[in-house]
Amino acid sequence: MYRLATSPRLMIVSDLDHTMVDHHDPENLSILRFNALWEAKYRHDSLLVFSTGRSPTLYKQLRKEKPMLTPDITIMSVGTEITYGNEMVPDEGWVEVLNQKWDKKIVSEETSKISELTMQSETEQREHKASFYVKKEKAQEIMKTLSERLVKRGLDVKIIYSGGMDLDILPQGAGKGQALAYLHQKLKAAGKLPTNTLACGDSGNDAELFTIPDVHGVMVKNAQEELLQWHAENAKNNPKIIHATERCAAGIIEAIGHFKLGPNVSPRDVTNLSDAKLDYFDPAYEVVKFYLFFERWRRAELENPEVYLSNLKSACSPSGVFVHPSGVEKSLHDCIDKLKDCFGDKKEKPYRVWVDQVFPSQTDSETWIVKFKKWEQTELVEIAGEEQQGCLTTVVVSSKGVKPTEGLTWVHMHQTWIKGTTCDDWVF
Ligand code: GLC
Ligand code: MG
Repeated sequence: MYRLATSPRLMIVSDLDHTMVDHHDPENLSILRFNALWEAKYRHDSLLVFSTGRSPTLYKQLRKEKPMLTPDITIMSVGTEITYGNEMVPDEGWVEVLNQKWDKKIVSEETSKISELTMQSETEQREHKASFYVKKEKAQEIMKTLSERLVKRGLDVKIIYSGGMDLDILPQGAGKGQALAYLHQKLKAAGKLPTNTLACGDSGNDAELFTIPDVHGVMVKNAQEELLQWHAENAKNNPKIIHATERCAAGIIEAIGHFKLGPNVSPRDVTNLSDAKLDYFDPAYEVVKFYLFFERWRRAELENPEVYLSNLKSACSPSGVFVHPSGVEKSLHDCIDKLKDCFGDKKEKPYRVWVDQVFPSQTDSETWIVKFKKWEQTELVEIAGEEQQGCLTTVVVSSKGVKPTEGLTWVHMHQTWIKGTTCDDWVF
């Protein structure tokens, strides 16, 4: 959370299922568009927060299935668990807050008396969250009864209905909104309150994200009835909350544009990447562009592949070296020449490449080291059950003797396999 030396430019707090992740888009196009935009333009000075109803178990499962970026902060189990970074270090302070007027045993006793409540799986029952399924028609009535009974037993709880089927019982101080308020408070204390915050959601448990002061909000196009109803009753005239015309992550990009929070054109939407020139050096953008080129090259989706290839070769230093994860060293120019062999080898296949956690750091006036994770998916997970392959990558780029519009020169590239992912035989 304190990765950034100054206030984050933008803090995105997004729900996952049916918001960041579109379960009706097997090609994952909208999330891939978001990923490219985030890594090229926001990662270095902004904060990405995922806020999901899922437990850590189901969250980790989703990460294996979908091309998801690594967030700076992960809020799970409907705002009852907050963790930081790759290692997912838990926020102990937050747990303290949640213990107030909460007793899971009493919740279990009272819920077991209501036959319309069906328990969700064991993984979704957490220290500060009890979760059930309940039919839409019964939801309002049951929430009322349950709430009265728990008050009588001395508890102070919050009952939330989401997705037209899920009923969660949490401590009153919990929830996605309260978790966000807590993070804002922490950031403020450190003098790093974000310049802008954008909350993104689709269902009932996201509603309270939109009630936190100074937060812009987007309900994605495919938002659930219960969220739209909440909005109609509570926030109809609030210009800071929009109902997007686009689904899921495309709706998030739409909101970035609508609220003018920063760049809103995903590099994935740029057809001619060689025309996408900047008047300043931007190593993160170059890395994102390179892997988009690489994906399009293998899918045979480029109009003038030969031109691209020669541009690429001239962007690599003649003495540049590529160190393959196996340890074998090759010259960058040889690698570019070898690319010819794989042109179109993934044509009409669901092959995708994306980069995660692109962090450039400048080492002298004309050199940058860029570190990132490169991920590839070769088949649709739904069909092959195949997992993503990842490489930890380090690139050295230089601006020596080139103009910004010509782009940076690639001097060195080094990759290692990310533990647990399988081997691929290709370079880059
Ligand atoms: C996720 C959780 C579930 C919860 C629901 C709504 O699906 O897995 O336990 O009820 O979100 O918050
Ligand atoms: Mg959702």
